Amino acid sequence: MASDRPNPRVQVATVSADGVPSLRTVVLRGLLGDGTPYFFTDARSRKVDHLDANPPHLALLAWFETTHQQFRLSGLATVHGEQAAAPWDTLRVSLWARLPPAERAPFFGPAPGRLLVDAPPVESLEVLPKNFVVVSLTVEDVDWLVLGPPHQRASFRKVGATWLSQHLTP
Ligand SMILES: Cc1cc2nc3c(=O)[nH]c(=O)nc-3n(C[C@H](O)[C@H](O)[C@H](O)COP(=O)(O)O)c2cc1C
Repeated sequence: MASDRPNPRVQVATVSADGVPSLRTVVLRGLLGDGTPYFFTDARSRKVDHLDANPPHLALLAWFETTHQQFRLSGLATVHGEQAAAPWDTLRVSLWARLPPAERAPFFGPAPGRLLVDAPPVESLEVLPKNFVVVSLTVEDVDWLVLGPPHQRASFRKVGATWLSQHLTP
């Protein structure tokens, strides 16, 4: 991902323990060298609660208006918090370091999605809070659609260490 472009806004879907899907927009912060996408979020959020499931299914949707391409990725998520292994530990620290104060503040307030109440003022926004987590997606399936003409669609599925690709009808 080129660093001079804004990070894409994508939608990620999770499923609750009783099978109810939910969607939200997140900023795609980057792709690891092997293509693993990741974003950051609050460990106390509903999406992270959903990812406590076994297996932790996550789907990601990206639509690029300029190139007319839709990517639908699905696979298993990993939540990288305080105990994150390399390279996620350093990535988590550097994502926090680049975050402006206004975007840091919610991590010190009440959990997302609670009733709005007057929260006590935050004393310091410096210390990396444990609820600041990075979520990565180990992609197992990709559905790629290009709006033509002609429309084109292909699927990519990971089987073991190999990616199998097929052209599909749109
Ligand atoms: C443009 C945009 C970007 C957003 N980026 C993020 C993000 O990077 N991480 C995040 O946790 N929430 C982000 N949000 C907020 C989420 O959409 C969502 O409201 C929040 O994470 C709570 O979701 P949940 O209750 O389903 O867990 C963003 C919202 C918008 C509109």
